[in-house]
Amino acid sequence: MFRLIFIIVFMAGTGAAQQQDFSLSSPVALVDSGFLGFLLPRFSLKTGIRAEILSEAEIADVRLNTIGNIPVLEGLGQQFYMTITDQNTARSRKAQRFADWLVSDIGKRTIEQFRLNGAQVFTASRPGVVAVAPIVFEGDAMRGEALSFANCGRCHVIGDRNRMSGIGSTPSFGLMRGLPDWDERFMTFYLRAPHPAITQIEGITDPFDPARPVSIFPLSITQAEMEDILTYVSTIKPVNLGGPLVEHQ
Ligand code: HEC
Repeated sequence: MFRLIFIIVFMAGTGAAQQQDFSLSSPVALVDSGFLGFLLPRFSLKTGIRAEILSEAEIADVRLNTIGNIPVLEGLGQQFYMTITDQNTARSRKAQRFADWLVSDIGKRTIEQFRLNGAQVFTASRPGVVAVAPIVFEGDAMRGEALSFANCGRCHVIGDRNRMSGIGSTPSFGLMRGLPDWDERFMTFYLRAPHPAITQIEGITDPFDPARPVSIFPLSITQAEMEDILTYVSTIKPVNLGGPLVEHQ
């Protein structure tokens, strides 16, 4: 009997000692990824302020969610915002410290240091700075080069190897690579004249119309081959027509 009371008192004691300073509600994805377990101890270490994590549905001092006031991070295919529920209570002041930390340089760095299976998951939001992720093509550039010569080289100058064999008025790959929207143009080339009549990409374009005469040189490639071509084009040195002339001495 004595023993039981002792245990209860002891537990109540530790409970009080662990009183949290503010509460944070969050979508389960941020908890399950291990992100909050990574983030919060680092904040606590700096400030001595402890947070209690609540589920998305509960009312908390700080809400992290896909809808809210202050954009703080993006990842897992979503933008997450932070909202502070109250103002000027003891708890909301602690919550505000957390909010300030999260958008500070050190908070941003902490967000971006989090790794899942070795890979960065979240990017800190930088309001006013529009992040344009460069498109990365993951095909085989060597294969793409060969495919370009074989399929596009009879009209387009691809590189030195067919410098003389393209069709004069047809833009060279180097020239097109120099256009700011080259990737958009290449990704949709099969929709742009004169290609639709001769081009078939497996799984993307309709099969050639049997009622119409097929080109003597139909251009037929797969999506994987298209990715290889795009990867190769991304490696081509752009020809910059607007650049200053280089004087040779
Ligand atoms: C039968 C000749 C021919 C072949 C083969 C050909 N092209 Fe073209 N392509 C052209 C011509 C002509 C133009 C210029 C059209 C214009 O100026 O409107 C062009 C333009 C383009 C453009 C720019 C389109 C635009 O609207 O900005 C891209 C990108 C392009 N070609 C990619 C390719 C790729 C990739 C291949 C090979 C998979 C290829 N072409 C094969 C003739 C060809």
